[in-house]
Amino acid sequence: MDDHERTREAWGRAGEKYVREHAEFLEQARTATLFPHELEVVADLLRQGPEVLHLMSGNGVDDHALLRAGAVRVTGLDYDERAVTSAQERADALGAPIRYVRADVPPFPVPDASVDLVYTGKGAVVWVADLDAWAQETARVLRPGGHLFVHEAHPMVPLYDLDAQTTRMRDDRSYFAASHVNDTFPAHGAVEWQHTVGSIVTAVAGAGLRVEVLREHPAPFWKPGEVEAAAWDGRLPNSYSLLARLSG
Ligand SMILES: C[S@@+](CC[C@H](N)C(=O)[O-])C[C@H]1O[C@@H](n2cnc3c(N)ncnc32)[C@H](O)[C@@H]1O
Repeated sequence: MDDHERTREAWGRAGEKYVREHAEFLEQARTATLFPHELEVVADLLRQGPEVLHLMSGNGVDDHALLRAGAVRVTGLDYDERAVTSAQERADALGAPIRYVRADVPPFPVPDASVDLVYTGKGAVVWVADLDAWAQETARVLRPGGHLFVHEAHPMVPLYDLDAQTTRMRDDRSYFAASHVNDTFPAHGAVEWQHTVGSIVTAVAGAGLRVEVLREHPAPFWKPGEVEAAAWDGRLPNSYSLLARLSG
């Protein structure tokens, strides 16, 4: 089994939660908003009523937040059958203009120059094996002047030992490694790509997008486990927001 199949199998197991927690996700979708860090960067664009493509859309709750912030339509792509089916049920129950498509990305099954905003993150970029293909596909599907927005775990995060008292680096991880195996819920056993900030920005720029914003944040977008880790005390980067624009 190669790394891609291993990851897909891990998400197949994790995907049960999309169905099991359907009622909770439906309740969250009714009131969901993006994080303040995200809105600081992307709220003005969303107010213009973009058509959005959400890569690795997962539980789909963010799609309702995107609509609430002004998006007119959202297409969500995810390769997990249970993710797309249960997210579609929630969208239909709420009468939301969201369409989910099962797809292993990249490539994106979307026509050229057909969306205004590609939105992704919160546990998505780490599953992209080929960052250049991901960035090239993003540039292909954006209309001229369209944007890519990413809100994601900082690539330093896998190196943090999540101890409550002390900030320590894990000895078994490297910022410059190609990948590592995820050992937290829900994607336990999946192979995460250890893309650096430099490799992400270089792939985006190489696809012809101009980076307009790159902000690193001390707060994580998600806190695994029960402890409040010392690595979250405000001294280290835990997430980032990136906005890039296609010329035109
Ligand atoms: C952490 S979750 C989703 C993040 C999403 N923003 C959310 O909050 O639910 C990651 C999702 O990526 C999907 N995924 C991972 N690799 C993928 C790939 N190559 N193509 C499509 N979906 C993928 C998984 O099925 C899973 O639903």
